[in-house]
Amino acid sequence: MSETKSLLAQVEHAFSFAQKQVSSLIERDPGFYPLYTDLGRWRHSKPAWTHWCDGFLPGMMWIFYEETGDRRWRASAEEYSRVLEPRKDDREVHDLGFIFYHGTYKRWYEATVREGAPDQSLKDVVIHAGRVLSLRFNEKAGCLRSFHGEDSNFIDIMMNVGVIFYAATETGDAALLDIARKHCLTTRRTLVRGDGSTSHEGIFDLATGEFLRQTTQQGYRGDSCWSRGLAWSLYGFGTCYKLRRDPVYLEVAEHNAEYWLSNIPDDGVAPWDFDAPGNGGRVQADTSASAIAAVGLLNLADMSTGGARRTAYRDCALRMMDSLTRNYLGQSIEGWEGILRGGVYHIHKDLGVDESVMWGEYFFVEALQRTMHLLRGR
Ligand code: GLY
Repeated sequence: MSETKSLLAQVEHAFSFAQKQVSSLIERDPGFYPLYTDLGRWRHSKPAWTHWCDGFLPGMMWIFYEETGDRRWRASAEEYSRVLEPRKDDREVHDLGFIFYHGTYKRWYEATVREGAPDQSLKDVVIHAGRVLSLRFNEKAGCLRSFHGEDSNFIDIMMNVGVIFYAATETGDAALLDIARKHCLTTRRTLVRGDGSTSHEGIFDLATGEFLRQTTQQGYRGDSCWSRGLAWSLYGFGTCYKLRRDPVYLEVAEHNAEYWLSNIPDDGVAPWDFDAPGNGGRVQADTSASAIAAVGLLNLADMSTGGARRTAYRDCALRMMDSLTRNYLGQSIEGWEGILRGGVYHIHKDLGVDESVMWGEYFFVEALQRTMHLLRGR
């Protein structure tokens, strides 16, 4: 009981700190959508690699509004979301689910539903984004292509395919549903391994549709398990199950969770890749992977059958949140501008290594929200 109380206090403190950091960012640098820090600062001249994170800053504002009811958060959330609306037609990235389903317009629409005045035009933006994302489908390969090439599928897309399921369900569009379903099944067959681990990227022969090999951009190796990729899969397949109730998706997410639970260190902080060599010391952490997996595991704990499994998922998520809130808040370093330290973006390109990363901030805030609800018993 007292352990629960002290974790709740830690998590509530982190949630207040998160609001403070986001307030400071938007006061200091209005209209700026950062991606990762460099030495703890959001403003720097290092490159983006790909343009996928803009929905996460308004996404946090929507969560702050949901929890506090503070209209100032609502106003900022609307302002920062509205700017992104044209991105619903962005054909360059595979990330429209991150931007519109997780981050902006779906949360905005849900706010209007809670307030008793559902605004269909907001939902239409989400549906439109789902339709545009579906245009990445390659019939031969049976999956959506990543931003990296015609022949490439990323495990990350599992976090985005939900917006296609959403659009299909809301409109009754069977063709859209078929695309999303095929993407999931192809990803399951080619990127999820027998032990529940995942590969980051799959390459296809576009002439025949044959799956050629597993490889990686951000992980250690093609045959290794990049921890963020595993977290994307665990959370993403869980979301697909929530949306469609097809038991195949739940099975994959649980399989990913088993690998996560068996391989995560005792303190719950994921190494950036589960197979990366430590060279005698601790492997560089990726706290963002633990934040994503914490939400994914809490979702699974609500959906899985089997009490022991549910308890194991919750216990692991709480252990991770204990470590992240105890040891990785930006407040421990003077002048650090992010909420959560210890994230990794692209280790091979030396972008955002041991830094705050915008998706890490968002999923950490989502995990804080979920943990507060759990510990308060609602
Ligand atoms: N490419 C998306 C990520 O860094 O997870």
